Amino acid sequence: MSAAAPVKHDVGILLTGVGKRYDIVSAFAQHARVVAADPNPLAPAQYAADVRATVPRIEDPDYVPALAALCAEHRVGAVVPLTDLDIEVLARAREQDRLPALVPGSDTARATFDKYEAHLLLQRLGLPSPPTVLPGEPVSYYPVIVKPRRGSGARSIMHAKDARAAEFFVDYVDEPVMVQKAMDGPEFSIDCLSDLDGRCLNAIPRTMIESRGGESIKGTVIADAELIDLGRRVVEGLAVRGPCTVQVFRDSQVGLGITDVNTRFGGAFPAPMYAARPGHTYPELIVRMAMGERIEPHVGDFRSGITFTRYYWQLELDERLEPTGRDIVSPAGPPPPR
Ligand SMILES: Nc1ncnc2c1ncn2[C@@H]1O[C@H](COP(=O)(O)OP(=O)(O)O)[C@@H](O)[C@H]1O
Ligand SMILES: [Mg+2]
Repeated sequence: MSAAAPVKHDVGILLTGVGKRYDIVSAFAQHARVVAADPNPLAPAQYAADVRATVPRIEDPDYVPALAALCAEHRVGAVVPLTDLDIEVLARAREQDRLPALVPGSDTARATFDKYEAHLLLQRLGLPSPPTVLPGEPVSYYPVIVKPRRGSGARSIMHAKDARAAEFFVDYVDEPVMVQKAMDGPEFSIDCLSDLDGRCLNAIPRTMIESRGGESIKGTVIADAELIDLGRRVVEGLAVRGPCTVQVFRDSQVGLGITDVNTRFGGAFPAPMYAARPGHTYPELIVRMAMGERIEPHVGDFRSGITFTRYYWQLELDERLEPTGRDIVSPAGPPPPR
């Protein structure tokens, strides 16, 4: 029996910085009119959208006005950023009633963009963060990770076995860094979704079997009650709105420690998609919230044991940069299960 075709609602969703994230754009496009914005006219993920929009760069004063014009034209109910780069700009625009952005307050956006600020904030909230200091302050644990305060995509992450190596990397990495206990246990991500009032709707943990350039490319969804509860406490403590991915290690000495909080869809979007109950995928819940519906929290209600493994794909474009619709294999879909 085939599932009923998804209902495409009469509401717009504006996704910013879509880049290569074709899976996210196409998941939203099943349920709403999707406007994909990116400064790069060749951003592949825009081809999964109903409307492709090349917009000014984030620093440009015309960025927010350009997004606001798209919102008015396409009756957008939610603006959802797909990168870290414009979350704070969107948060301020939300506070000024200029955009219906599904992002936390600008204070939370700013604090989570700076990993040292995030560490201090987590500590204030009584949430577990690994021992972390700034360069020059005394270090209580070795080995340590020297990492940029405003890094992303696993850029310049340096493992230092002792004080000498740490000092070297602090000097070597050409941007503000922090020095954090190297966590020895397994790493997890918890993909969370919160409503407009900051209530956690769901928190779905997964293992990090393999990552590349900050993107998790293999992992398994797990029903770990401690991680589900931690995800909920983080997003409710930080008053997050919309999607948020919490990265955490389970260390043999200090136990759980949160190493990264990204108030956007994480690098492994398929995991919570596969795990969600029918009708409860994050894109569907966001589309319903964009139409003004209130969603009941259902934290911990998902299917575990599902593994994802990801790969690259591409599109052929003609001289006008329109997709030709051709592909290098027949569109027969995956082979049937054996
Ligand atoms: N304290 C730590 N201990 C061990 N590994 C770490 C630690 N901090 C970061 N890492 C490793 O580096 C990767 C990237 O670090 P992260 O803090 O997530 O920064 P970003 O994703 O913003 O670049 C993590 O996924 C993890 O594998
Ligand atoms: Mg990270």
